[in-house]
Amino acid sequence: MKTENTFTIGDFKINRIGFGTMRASTGAGIWGDTLNKENTIKVLRKAIENGVNFIDTADSYGPYTSELLVQEAIKPFKDQVMLATKGGAVKYRPGAVMANGHPYYLRTAIEGSLKRLERETIDMYFLHRVDPNIPIEESLGALAQFQKEGKIRHIGVSNVTVEQLEKAQSVAKIEAVQNALSYKDRRYEAVVNKTSSENIAFVAHTPVAVNNWDEAAFAKAEQEGISTNQLSLSWLLQYSPNVISIPGTSSEDHLAENLASYNVNIKF
Ligand SMILES: NC(=O)c1ccc[n+]([C@@H]2O[C@H](COP(=O)([O-])OP(=O)(O)OC[C@H]3O[C@@H](n4cnc5c(N)ncnc54)[C@H](OP(=O)(O)O)[C@@H]3O)[C@@H](O)[C@H]2O)c1
Repeated sequence: MKTENTFTIGDFKINRIGFGTMRASTGAGIWGDTLNKENTIKVLRKAIENGVNFIDTADSYGPYTSELLVQEAIKPFKDQVMLATKGGAVKYRPGAVMANGHPYYLRTAIEGSLKRLERETIDMYFLHRVDPNIPIEESLGALAQFQKEGKIRHIGVSNVTVEQLEKAQSVAKIEAVQNALSYKDRRYEAVVNKTSSENIAFVAHTPVAVNNWDEAAFAKAEQEGISTNQLSLSWLLQYSPNVISIPGTSSEDHLAENLASYNVNIKF
């Protein structure tokens, strides 16, 4: 099946296989500096040279180290890339994060991201998690205010249900949702359907780090002569035209394999 390989947000045409920087740009437990900064920068730049133009980071990755590294890596390509970051999740020790969607906190979060990313406006800013103690309308009201102030171009929400998305939409124009989605993880089908019908981007996180591959999937990949990672990425390309996946890697070979998923043409 032929699928459209791009999705447009605002006036920016995104190639639907982007790049997530969470693991490659930080240490173990998504904490501290990457073990191999030079390599991470090299792979990220290679990705952009090969057409990747949607890059995802977050202030909680490291915390902060990912945004700093991504900024350094993409500096030469600034206008070629839509850079997304996220706020509203506090990384307090390796492997642990908690939501903070309080408007005061989000104000300090975005100011920090603007500084680290050396920008006056962030292309795409996601509320990373919904804070169970703060109504989502309050968190999104803050992002809408930052957008009015020119600090955010496009607003997104992450890890949301349809109900939470609708509440967010009551106070802000939501242009992307970032939730888990892969060949083996389809729990957010209802959110994909809603975003698809409203022409909102669905950014699929964790698109290849699948740990529940089954015999049938292995057999299908083998029969098609592709890897299971390519099975997932090509399925995502076909699943819905508003889906942008953001696989992350520290390997040029894996990057090439992931991007080759554009050429996979199989029936699901
Ligand atoms: N919004 C959220 O709450 C949230 C949550 C999780 C993730 N995310 C975003 O989504 C992005 C991707 O998620 P993720 O890092 O959890 O999972 P992922 O991108 O699905 O998988 C990354 C892992 O898979 C490996 N990998 C990638 N391509 C491969 C290939 N072709 N062959 C073999 N191994 C491959 C990488 O190792 P190598 O380095 O060895 O290739 C890495 O360990 C993150 O970077 C982040 O931006 C967002």
